[in-house]
Amino acid sequence: MWEYTDKVRDHFFNPRNVGEIENADGVGEVGSLACGDALRLTFKLDKDGRIVDAKFKTFGCASAIATSSVLTELIKGKTLDEAMKVTNREIADYLGGLPEQKMHCSVMGREALEAAIDNYRGGGSKKHEIQGRIVCTCFGVTDTEIERVIRENNLTTVEQVTNYCKAGGGCGGCKGEIQKIIEQVQGEKAKGQELPPPREGKRLTNIQKIQLIQQTINEQIRPALRAHGGNIELIDVVGDKVVIAFRGMCAQCKISEFTMKDVVEAKLREFVSDSLYVEEDSESMEQGHEHRE
Ligand code: FES
Repeated sequence: MWEYTDKVRDHFFNPRNVGEIENADGVGEVGSLACGDALRLTFKLDKDGRIVDAKFKTFGCASAIATSSVLTELIKGKTLDEAMKVTNREIADYLGGLPEQKMHCSVMGREALEAAIDNYRGGGSKKHEIQGRIVCTCFGVTDTEIERVIRENNLTTVEQVTNYCKAGGGCGGCKGEIQKIIEQVQGEKAKGQELPPPREGKRLTNIQKIQLIQQTINEQIRPALRAHGGNIELIDVVGDKVVIAFRGMCAQCKISEFTMKDVVEAKLREFVSDSLYVEEDSESMEQGHEHRE
């Protein structure tokens, strides 16, 4: 018997927003009946681009129903960018926690939301694309998904990964690879902690700044891009402007703009200086566009 909080029980016995929105703006479906859980999420936007209504249908356990119910409540009133920031941890925390073995339900909710937003941004016809390479064939879980649950929830064991995304919970043949991914992610984190703290209040010389930018790229940014077949090169630093070029898969990737803003710039601001901003080298950007077209 699982130990459920009062909030989980409440959302299980009185789920909010059950059903499906007609003519929804975004539709997201994740999971499969074969795997024991499936979730369909629909949402409607108001004229200002905020989620005015959200509904779900799920085939799953009490936790799947409770997490889906909470998710629909959490995203109402948010813009899509704000909704994208809702993490599985936030869903679980809202419920006062979930049994560890049921954390995958909160991950499924977050994935359904992303699928629905992708669907909306793709003009309503786009299906959620699987990102990354399948590591667990039993449950169809990719390296990208595994990395993400490890990072967002600070997981350190294969058993935890299985609880959060099911990978490893079937034949067990992928457990060795899951272990390697854990070691890689935790290794990157440990390296990051060795970096000197941001130089608040102290003025860096230009040479110190460039060195710190290069170090941050080498240790914080490049490993993550490499994991997806991409790379990054520092081209120049002019005042607070950091000019970079994406290489490999990143140069051809439609989301390189997102990568630049949200990953590269955020890391540089965190480890070097708040005032830095990133621009892609115009020459390599043109080459990237040619590849994308
Ligand atoms: S391949 Fe992952 S459990 Fe079977």
